[in-house]
Amino acid sequence: MTQIDEQSFVQVCNWISQNAGIAVPKGKTDLLRQRMGRVLRRFGYDDMRRLARELVPNGAADVQMAVMDAASINHTYFFREPDVLQSFMDIAVPEFQDRSEFRIWSAACSSGEEAYTIALMLIDLLGAEKARRASILGTDISGPVVDRAELGIYSRVQMARTEKRILDRWFQPTGIDQFRVKPDLRAMCTFRRMNLKAVPYPFARPFQAVFCRNILYYFDRADQSATLRAIYDVTEPGGWLVTSVTETIRDLGSAWEPVAAGLYRRPK
Ligand SMILES: C[S@@+](CC[C@H](N)C(=O)[O-])C[C@H]1O[C@@H](n2cnc3c(N)ncnc32)[C@H](O)[C@@H]1O
Repeated sequence: MTQIDEQSFVQVCNWISQNAGIAVPKGKTDLLRQRMGRVLRRFGYDDMRRLARELVPNGAADVQMAVMDAASINHTYFFREPDVLQSFMDIAVPEFQDRSEFRIWSAACSSGEEAYTIALMLIDLLGAEKARRASILGTDISGPVVDRAELGIYSRVQMARTEKRILDRWFQPTGIDQFRVKPDLRAMCTFRRMNLKAVPYPFARPFQAVFCRNILYYFDRADQSATLRAIYDVTEPGGWLVTSVTETIRDLGSAWEPVAAGLYRRPK
């Protein structure tokens, strides 16, 4: 039986907040306790104190990574919040669609559904050949979800909002009720592990647009502001930021200009 004492649990929450920028919401502590219980069992630790001891600069990297993975909430699906996606396609894409290349970043991409959705919508808007000018980068702090994004296999549930014509053209059935992204769609997207809290971001070339959806509300205010500033710095002047419509960035002292619900622009 593994033990989770309150003092060590608070220590672990503080470490998660400092290192991943994830403030554990009050209502979510039970879920986190359950997940930490799994980490303890995986490493054969009897109690949380043993785990907390590893959360120091020279602690065991595999334990630290497992704690990060357990703290991240990866829920996502194809064509999530379609209205803001459509605003992006209608308002933003026409401004850069004639370039020979354009770069879009899905920051906190989870298992890749957002990145592939952007690719599919670009194909619908521009046609497959022109859409191939897009380089779509998906990043996430959690290694296992980045691996899943690279694999590109999804269940019918995750694809419930995907039209049949899209499913038939861009996905290969594999196993029972599972679909694999076809190579020509896969080739538009690249996935990497990356911590949004590690600012400034290490990109040599700016993005035309960045999606940062359903992640900021896990961060405390200081990390929200720092993240928005760092994204601003890697977006070209006149470039775009897409957030979730449930997250407002207006009172975070950022220089992003609101354009439509969930759509912001860096001034030119
Ligand atoms: C709810 S998912 C959002 C996925 C997608 N953007 C969407 O809107 O459907 C949040 C993701 O943020 C990731 N995450 C949490 N903290 C992070 C951090 N500090 N840096 C990068 N990704 C992080 C989690 O691993 C998780 O996959």
